This record gives sequence, structure tokens and C-alpha cells, in this order.
Amino acid sequence: VRVISYGQDQTEILQLQDQFEQLQRKVKGYQTEVEDLREKELDNHYLIARSNETKHILKTIHNVSKTDATILLLGPSGVGKSTFARAVHDQSNRKKEPFIEVNCSTIPESLFESEIFGYEPGSFTGANKQGRQGLIEQADSGTLFLDEIGELPLAMQAKLLKVLQEKKIKRIGGKKENHINFRLVAATNQDLKEMVSQGKFRLDLFYRLNVIPIQIPALHERKEDIPLLIQHYLEKTNDKYQKYKKIHPSTYEVLTHYHWPGNIRELENLIERLILTIEEPIIFPEHLPQSITGQVEQPEDSTFLAIEQECVENFDLKKTLENVERQLIAKAWKKCKTTYEMAEHLGISQPTVIYKLKKYKQYL
Ligand SMILES: Nc1ncnc2c1ncn2[C@@H]1O[C@H](COP(=O)(O)OP(=O)(O)OP(=O)(O)O)[C@@H](O)[C@H]1O
Ligand SMILES: [Mg+2]
Repeated sequence: VRVISYGQDQTEILQLQDQFEQLQRKVKGYQTEVEDLREKELDNHYLIARSNETKHILKTIHNVSKTDATILLLGPSGVGKSTFARAVHDQSNRKKEPFIEVNCSTIPESLFESEIFGYEPGSFTGANKQGRQGLIEQADSGTLFLDEIGELPLAMQAKLLKVLQEKKIKRIGGKKENHINFRLVAATNQDLKEMVSQGKFRLDLFYRLNVIPIQIPALHERKEDIPLLIQHYLEKTNDKYQKYKKIHPSTYEVLTHYHWPGNIRELENLIERLILTIEEPIIFPEHLPQSITGQVEQPEDSTFLAIEQECVENFDLKKTLENVERQLIAKAWKKCKTTYEMAEHLGISQPTVIYKLKKYKQYL
């Protein structure tokens, strides 16, 4: 008697399907890009260690990375605490899982709890309607890196301690406690023990964190790393800006004796600045800012430097040899008490010493 007919315009569905496929392609593209970036970042984590101090730190990190022990990185600003924290994660079994970095000094105290623990929908005014995962939850099965932990407000210290003890968290406004499996790495440039004695840091939290403390010395306390770091950043910056600058050996020497209050970060910035602002192909000590040259302790023996410089600046063999000879004679003259002693020191005969002294007497 009646016929029911049902029809639907397919255009919209087809359009949606098309959009969906486009999105899928985009996501795939982003995935590849993220993987590429991750690999590049890993390359960037190439760590320089020439001094025994830094080698020892890398060895400790290597030994403890695979465990879940809490690591506390200590040391002044710019020495590499964040870099070593990342190295711990990259060498651990959690390396494919998230590495969540939280800088305790940059989160305002009022937001700390919601950032760290997350919240359930409608738990406070201004909160996201869907609720939000906290940073600890995001670090589940990975590593949580709490940087500048000395800046953690006391009230938060108590809450963090509870999480570390129970490995469970409850979102703000939530009822359920979730078990979270994360490895903790913390860092600070403050003296936590001193803070404990001043009542600014909880002793119980300090003990929880201080399981494997790693003290990273200031750069001037591990001078052997400096030339290699300069070389590393020189290559890196040259590559980045397609420059071909070189650094003269005497500049290396000056930089090795500078006290680097900003540590490796200062070194990195200086090399970049020099490469970008100095027009000459070779960077000499005169190109360094006065703030550096004025602060350098004079190395005990500058003869080596003067000779090196001679070799770089001069191509005249006879003149260069004479200059080098003059400097060695002058050095022995200062050091030795008699011409016989000088002869022995220089490996030449005493009459030759007399002859050379006469020759260079105006320089002595
Ligand atoms: N061993 C190393 N080899 C090469 N580069 C390094 C090394 N250690 C640190 N760096 C570099 O030095 C810079 C400063 O390091 P990092 O940011 O880790 O220092 P930090 O101690 O965390 O400083 P802050 O206390 O200011 O947070 C970074 O660019 C890092 O890549
Ligand atoms: Mg840091």
C-alpha cells in the first residue's frame, strides 16, 4: 500500500572521509618528523668528558641509569645538570618512555599542585572542563626530572614526599588513587643541606632524594674539558652558520685559564658570539671581550704560546727559528743560575751558550 524510501546525501560523508585521510597522512608526517627530531636530539646529547672528574660522573651515570634509584644532581648553573639528567634517561630501560622535565622555579606556587598532580573535571574555577593529567601522571613508566628542586614550596615538598613514598597520586578533586611508575631525577644549584638547617627544605624529603648524589664541579675545576668543549662548540656553530672560523692556540690557552662563572653555557654562548661577530678567519686573544682577558690568571709559562704564535704568523723559516731560539735562551737565562747550568738545560755546549747570550743580549 505504501512504500517507504530512505535516501541520504553522501557528499558530506565523502568529504569527511577525505578530510580524515588527509589528517591521517598529516599525523604520519608528524610522526616521522618527531622521530627524526628525537634522533637528532640524541646526537646533540653527545657529552664531552676529558677530565677525570667528568669521566667519573659519566661512569657513575652509566652504572646507575639502568636501576630505578633516585639521582640528585648538584652543581652551579650551566655545568650540565639538565644534560646529565637526560643522559640518565637515555641510558635507562625507560628511554623509549616519556622524559618529563619540570622546572620547579618557573611554576607559580598557586598552580603547582594542579600542574604536578592534575585535576578532575570541575574541581576548581577556571579549570579545564575535562580535567587534566598532571606532570607526574605524564611521566608514568618514564622519568620525571624535577629541576631546581630547592625552589619547591614547603607545602609541595610534603606532598611530593608522600608520592615518592607511596608511588601513588590522587588528582585534585579526585577520589581514586592511581599507581604511577616513574623514576625520579632531581637537580639543584642550591645547598640543600644548608636549606634543611634553615628549615627551608624538609629533611625527610632530602633523604629521599639524596640516594645517589652526583656533584658536578664548576668548569674551572676541570680545565681539561675546556679545549675539547671549545672545539666541539666551534664545529657545531661553524656547521650551524656555515662558517669556517678557526681558533688560534693562544686563544685556547687564554680561555682555558678563564674562570667561567657561567660554566659550559657561558662557553657555548661565547663561541657562538665570536663566530658570528669576528670577521677574521682566525680568532686571536685580542678578539676576546675584555671581561674575559681581564680575568684570566696568567699561565706560568707563556713561552710555548709565544712560540706557537710565531709559527702561525711567520713563514720565514730562518727568522722563525731565530725567534724561537731567542725565547728558549731567554727562558733558560731566567731559570738557571750559571751558563753551565743553561748549557745542560738546553742540551748545548757552554761556549755556545755564551755566544747565544751575546747575540740576544738586548732581549734578555
Ligand atoms: N659534558 C658536556 N659536553 C658537552 N656539552 C655539555 C656538557 N655538559 C653540558 N653541556 C652543555 O652546556 C649547556 C648547559 O648545560 P645544562 O643546561 O645541562 O646545565 P645546568 O647545570 O642544567 O644549568 P642550570 O643550573 O642553569 O639549569 C647545555 O647547552 C649543554 O648542552
Ligand atoms: Mg638545568
